[in-house]
Amino acid sequence: MRVLGIETSCDETGVAIYDSERGLMSHVLYSQVKMHAEFGGVVPELASRDHIRKLLPLIKEAFAKAGLKLGEVDGVAYTAGPGLVGALMVGAATARSLAFGWGVPALGVHHMEGHLLAPMLEEVPPPYPFVTLLVSGGHTMLVDVQSPGCYSILGETLDDAAGEAFDKTAKMMGLPYPGGPMLSKIACKGEVGRFKFPRPMVDRPGLDFSFSGLKTAVRLVIADHAENEVVPEQDMADIACGFQEAVVDTLAIKCRRALQQTGHKNLVIAGGVSANSRLRERLADIVKKERCQLFYPRAEFCTDNGAMIAYAGWLRMRVGQQSGYELNIKPRWPL
Ligand code: KG4
Ligand code: ZN
Repeated sequence: MRVLGIETSCDETGVAIYDSERGLMSHVLYSQVKMHAEFGGVVPELASRDHIRKLLPLIKEAFAKAGLKLGEVDGVAYTAGPGLVGALMVGAATARSLAFGWGVPALGVHHMEGHLLAPMLEEVPPPYPFVTLLVSGGHTMLVDVQSPGCYSILGETLDDAAGEAFDKTAKMMGLPYPGGPMLSKIACKGEVGRFKFPRPMVDRPGLDFSFSGLKTAVRLVIADHAENEVVPEQDMADIACGFQEAVVDTLAIKCRRALQQTGHKNLVIAGGVSANSRLRERLADIVKKERCQLFYPRAEFCTDNGAMIAYAGWLRMRVGQQSGYELNIKPRWPL
């Protein structure tokens, strides 16, 4: 079975083709980041319009790169949610129209299931069962993955997602959008331990997270160190470092707890924040202590992409799942 995957839930247009025998045959991505940077965040209407402009050319490119004629697939999978309504509708309408035209089924895929399965595209995929830490701009959750499609949520954020906390803190520090990766870069030059921020909810039992208080703690320190509204460069790096340590530490403590609680021997991290090298470093420490193994997607598949949707769609379509051709996007859709 061969599936075309389409991702348009936010500000990335991603297209890929996944095949039972040949694996990932092609994947192409267009990022709208530069366009939104001017506005300091994603502008939903502009995102939808840009997906319309880029999607069909990218689909053509994906078929050409895979050495296939247009339409040589057995199904079309698209991100049905969660995400921005207009952006999702562009992907869903295009996917379903193509599927209808080609006479193949269409299937709406959960964006977070895509992230969760992204490490499966690597040469050494994680063996089931495993614990996944899903950390993106919109979600932070720990998931017990027993088998494909069989997930239980162990814990999740009660307020901001980890990526959101990175982005909002970066904005407070005057860094351009998207702030997460930039903040992490600055943090590398900072002194560990000069600023110690709280590790929210680690003293409580359970596996939920909360990051909104941390943001406020950083705001107070920034205000304290601003001279004529400008924070000196080294202070900024030290604050960024302290913030990153607090987020990473909190995530690491909960991951360790999740491994102990489930007894699983494999830990997976996925979603945009899984690209954070400090997080990978800390989790490598944890799995060593717990005699477990750590898995994560290659950098380009940590953030939004079409490959993870093609794979998640393939996994479900090969056992006969399909959505039909009606409009069925779900901007708010629990995993
Ligand atoms: O998974 P993703 O591309 O989109 C969502 O589904 O949300 O994740 C984007 C998020 C953003 O919040 C971004 O700041 C964060 O991932 N991110 C990072 C890093 N790279 C991306 N956060 C911290 N460190 C990074 N290196
Ligand atoms: Zn995402």
